[in-house]
Amino acid sequence: MVFGTFLRGARLRADLTQEGLADQAGVSVRTIRDLERRRVRAPHRHTAESLAEALGLSGPDRTRFFAAAGQDSEPPAARRRPGSRRDRSRMAPAQLPAATAELFGRDPAMDLVRRYAAVARGRRRTATTISLHGPPGVGKTAFAIAAGTELRSDYPDGQLFADVGREEAGAGRGEAGAGRGGEAGAAAVVASFLRALGVAESGIPASLADRSALFRTVSDRLHLLIVLDEVADEDQLRPLMPAGSRCLVVVVARRPFAGLDPHERIALETLSEADSGEMLGSILGARAEAEPAAVRELVALCAGLPLALRLAADRLSMRPHWRVDRLVEYLRDEESRLHELQVGDLGVGPSIEAVHRRLDPADAEVFRVAAQLPGPEFTVGDVRRGCSAANVRRSIETLVDVGLLEPAGRGYRFHALTRIFARSL
Ligand SMILES: Nc1ncnc2c1ncn2[C@@H]1O[C@H](COP(=O)(O)OP(=O)(O)O)[C@@H](O)[C@H]1O
Ligand SMILES: [Mg+2]
Repeated sequence: MVFGTFLRGARLRADLTQEGLADQAGVSVRTIRDLERRRVRAPHRHTAESLAEALGLSGPDRTRFFAAAGQDSEPPAARRRPGSRRDRSRMAPAQLPAATAELFGRDPAMDLVRRYAAVARGRRRTATTISLHGPPGVGKTAFAIAAGTELRSDYPDGQLFADVGREEAGAGRGEAGAGRGGEAGAAAVVASFLRALGVAESGIPASLADRSALFRTVSDRLHLLIVLDEVADEDQLRPLMPAGSRCLVVVVARRPFAGLDPHERIALETLSEADSGEMLGSILGARAEAEPAAVRELVALCAGLPLALRLAADRLSMRPHWRVDRLVEYLRDEESRLHELQVGDLGVGPSIEAVHRRLDPADAEVFRVAAQLPGPEFTVGDVRRGCSAANVRRSIETLVDVGLLEPAGRGYRFHALTRIFARSL
């Protein structure tokens, strides 16, 4: 019998909705829907086990269920050798940090992630990478974590997370990219993944190459989701990549990657006015309703940057007696805008600074000179007139890649807050 038909029948007999079954089995509603509509022919082994359990199947029903899934019905315990890699009784790592409660304006990007992940699950040969890039504060980290959380039920052997940028900085020279600091960072990350997958401390090899090879061995047959934040480049990513086709890697890239295969790239952009307004409205509630004009101006001042919106909302939450227009008044002043959009060490300025710090001197000069031009939009020629950098066009392209500039018409454009930062240099 076709598995989807069998599943639907068993679900209805158990008097469960698709949502109810998803909840009890710990698999996504989408998976159940895809199976029942036969968009997916048969479930993964672990999904079949979870579904059979949630449906309370036993005896011949269970045997027929697994036969329809094209699998044998032996209970998992009997199949597994204790201590074998597939022994799921060991705790599966679930390292994703807590997700932001609600992301605004990211439905299209999340749809892409779901689509790419579904395609990845159909691939037989190798792990797929989905990379995210965009300007500082646009919500790359938040989106990567949300995407991981959305997909996690399809990766029951574990979800691994690492802030590679932070490991790299901890390992020494922060600006080193995939050079020595970058390699040391990657080595620390792979070691932590090996530990999470049950490799004893004494079994972790010394060199990055050996650690990476062991990681590929250990992860080979596992369904793993790996989320990596702030990866410098392809060289730094490679040793962190599993080889097995059951793994998916979601990466926040410091600049768009090239040369990976299979690879899906998603650019995250600033939010529309409508989404920005909705975000502020949802955080500020009645205060936003009471001052619609101030909220509109606040939206404009934050220029679609989620980090700015978040910090503005936080400032207001910390000052419940303030009217919204009081913060707007402070933000209107360009001189103090970045200062107002900072709470502790979290701020728009520091997040741009983290990217700026890694620029080559020539690229940094182009950034500074471009900001001194009269308007936020400019051409390569405009910058060339004011600066001695050898290859202005290349520097500008680098600035676009790292998210400090964006293409606009026949030239380029600063994001309003980035320009304020650059003019203060
Ligand atoms: N789409 C969004 N909706 C609501 N809040 C968001 C959204 N994207 C990001 N945020 C919030 O904005 C802040 C900055 O996001 P983050 O992911 O750290 O940016 P990035 O990694 O691109 O520098 C975080 O507090 C995050 O929770
Ligand atoms: Mg980030």
